[in-house]
Amino acid sequence: MPDLDALDHHPDVARIRSRRLTGKVATLVVDATGLDDGEKEKLELSLKEAALAVPGIEEARIALTATKRGRTVVAVGSGKGGVGKSTLAANLAVALARLGQKVGLIDADIYGPSQPRLFGATQRAEAKDKQLIPVEAYGVKLLSVGQLVAEGTALAWRGPMASGALNQLIDADWGDAELIVVDLPPGTGDVQLSLIQKARPAAAVIVSTPQDLSLIDAARAIDLFEKTHVPIAGVIENMAGYDCPHCGQPSDPFGHGGAEAEAKRLGVAFLGRLPLSASLREASDAGNPPAAGEGPAAAAFADLARKLLVQLETIRG
Ligand SMILES: Nc1ncnc2c1ncn2[C@@H]1O[C@H](COP(=O)(O)OP(=O)(O)O)[C@@H](O)[C@H]1O
Ligand SMILES: [Mg+2]
Repeated sequence: MPDLDALDHHPDVARIRSRRLTGKVATLVVDATGLDDGEKEKLELSLKEAALAVPGIEEARIALTATKRGRTVVAVGSGKGGVGKSTLAANLAVALARLGQKVGLIDADIYGPSQPRLFGATQRAEAKDKQLIPVEAYGVKLLSVGQLVAEGTALAWRGPMASGALNQLIDADWGDAELIVVDLPPGTGDVQLSLIQKARPAAAVIVSTPQDLSLIDAARAIDLFEKTHVPIAGVIENMAGYDCPHCGQPSDPFGHGGAEAEAKRLGVAFLGRLPLSASLREASDAGNPPAAGEGPAAAAFADLARKLLVQLETIRG
């Protein structure tokens, strides 16, 4: 009677979940989580060979399984527009990709999609078998409502059309993307509510500038996510402080530290702050996400991305 103990010496023994022997047929259940197609094929062949090398075994069946964690959707929201939500969503996505995450980015801002411009990727999205194919830029898979229609058209969308478009973006061919960042439209109305219900994010990031008015809106955004049972991964304070390029003196046009205090008051995490920076705006306008480069902005985004990953680990458990 043959036995399968020889497989204990196989380099991938840790992936073998069960072994069964029925007469001369060996059946192995193998965990292939995290492997790409080529690696899966190699694993399957090598285990098959090892099983067939056992005297008395004439057939080896390998069943590959994967523990599916599924895709984690992270929504980036703000109480109002112009606070840098899209800039942060774009650069967080790029920074997360640089940290080795497989990242997708959905630009769901029907009022003013800006991700194609931020990524310098303004070509139309193509579809295959009625499924949209994301555009790849700076290591990120990108789809935007701005790629579905001519610029300016999206502004007229309401309710059903908006959610129809978002469905197409969510159901696109995201391939192996494990983390999908969604740039929501600014505000806390019905449109945002239905987008949140459709995208079902695992967590939300709130962007605010330091001044009181923006913070009141940020608190509203936090409230909206809490009502829809989306955990807040944290608050980012944008345009916090300004280093004068001429005299080098730091100043705080919008105040400083307000978002951190507000996050504390509301009991949510603070992920960090990003200063007002002319070079950041210029690079963004030119379609070069600063997170993809070197220098202080890239380092700041990498830091925000790392903190976000830590929060996501806590939230996902
Ligand atoms: N930290 C920053 N420093 C300088 N300009 C910024 C900063 N963050 C955003 N901006 C600029 O502010 C404008 C609005 O940013 P955007 O990301 O489009 O905001 P939102 O998506 O919240 O409307 C853009 O021109 C952008 O380049
Ligand atoms: Mg925007």
